[in-house]
Amino acid sequence: MNRPAGEQRAALAAELRVAAAALERLAAGASLPAALDAAMAERPGGKLPAASRAAVRDMASRTVRAWGLCRELSARLNQRPPSPSMLALQQLVLAQLLDPVRSDATTVDQAIEAAKADPGLRRGAGFLNATLRRFLREREALVAQAQANPVARWNFPAWWIDTLREAYPDRWEAILEASNREPPLTLRVNVRRITVADWLGRLAGAGIDATQVGPQAVRLEAPMPVDRLPGWDEGLVSVQDAGAQLAAPLLDVADGMRVLDACAAPGGKTTHLLELAELDLVALDADKARLDRVGENLARLGQRAKLVAGDALRPDEWHDGRPFDRILVDAPCSASGIVRRQPDVRWRRRRRDMATFSDRQAAMIGALWPLLALGGKLLYSTCSVFPAEGDTVIARFLQSHPDALRLPLVWSFAPGEGSEAVAQLVPTSVEGRDHDGFYYALLGKQD
Ligand SMILES: C[S@@+](CC[C@H](N)C(=O)[O-])C[C@H]1O[C@@H](n2cnc3c(N)ncnc32)[C@H](O)[C@@H]1O
Repeated sequence: MNRPAGEQRAALAAELRVAAAALERLAAGASLPAALDAAMAERPGGKLPAASRAAVRDMASRTVRAWGLCRELSARLNQRPPSPSMLALQQLVLAQLLDPVRSDATTVDQAIEAAKADPGLRRGAGFLNATLRRFLREREALVAQAQANPVARWNFPAWWIDTLREAYPDRWEAILEASNREPPLTLRVNVRRITVADWLGRLAGAGIDATQVGPQAVRLEAPMPVDRLPGWDEGLVSVQDAGAQLAAPLLDVADGMRVLDACAAPGGKTTHLLELAELDLVALDADKARLDRVGENLARLGQRAKLVAGDALRPDEWHDGRPFDRILVDAPCSASGIVRRQPDVRWRRRRRDMATFSDRQAAMIGALWPLLALGGKLLYSTCSVFPAEGDTVIARFLQSHPDALRLPLVWSFAPGEGSEAVAQLVPTSVEGRDHDGFYYALLGKQD
């Protein structure tokens, strides 16, 4: 692997050990961020340098995106399943070798060093060496054979692929393809403070390439630390996917309205709503620690809202009895639309989770509906591409609530592009348009 000159890094073998420890935790059910934190904290020999920690994250994330293929390759290379820790190291290294840039004997040598340095893996170093070198020799044939399995071809669980194929018979492959891409860094320009054109000008002045991908959305050509962006400290921009930026305008807010953001943390849509109008806004979230992040985001942008730690399913515990003109229910969901950003989610979800999410989402709208004023609007949104969390939830709700009316959704990604009345967005990455997957439904309350 190439190393930037002068950068302080641990040996690749040391990085591989930590990344493999994280992968083992992931295989046991941990989330990627939690697995990485634990593996880095428990590293024998102390903390890795920052550049190595970034490399570990990159290697683990690369493996998670290719895990279906790596698992299938392991099954083909191993006559008998090795220990979970050896399997994790082997699959981690296979994922690196799949990248032509990293597919070299040095990576294998370092993997063997990593195994030898670990008392639990030392005896398996010969096995690891033999399987990895066989992979380097027979790479093309092995990958082609493995990819006959759709899980290896797409790097998604079989039930996930089947669900998408059924819901999107013409586009499921494009959705999976887009879901496997690296996500862009997209910013939302606070147009109360600066126009998109002026901010693009400031970016150009700083030598940063970017493209407009929504009315307020700007995608950077290469990710970078946000605090180095022009205007970040002044609150001119926030990080938000272009698809997520559709939510606040769809709620159709105006100055003076009383608004409930029922699942607010970390505040992406709360702060967007407050950029659109002067609102009396209640930001509710069940997770106190996450709610603190809403407070931090409001402070950076110089905005104000009432923060409430509470359960959207139990409004009697926190609601003061005054109706809301607008309610946003950005409900907890499978996160199947944002797999570009959370690549591990696909391996942690189960098919049966969808029914649980769907029931909770329907219950949440049902619990909040009485809080909506007559003539008011409620926007239901999720970052899911599964119909069970979208149209199914809304159809169930409309059936049991005759005072609810589904309102048309109208939006446009680019000036002059024309509008679309679409409730389901899927992950998309094409020229001038780049967003995650979301579901939106706007409901009006009538007599
Ligand atoms: C999809 S995230 C919200 C993202 C947020 N709207 C944004 O744009 O930044 C869902 C949120 O719902 C919260 N949540 C989950 N169950 C909840 C409940 N019963 N009541 C209130 N909030 C809940 C979670 O803590 C999480 O912060």
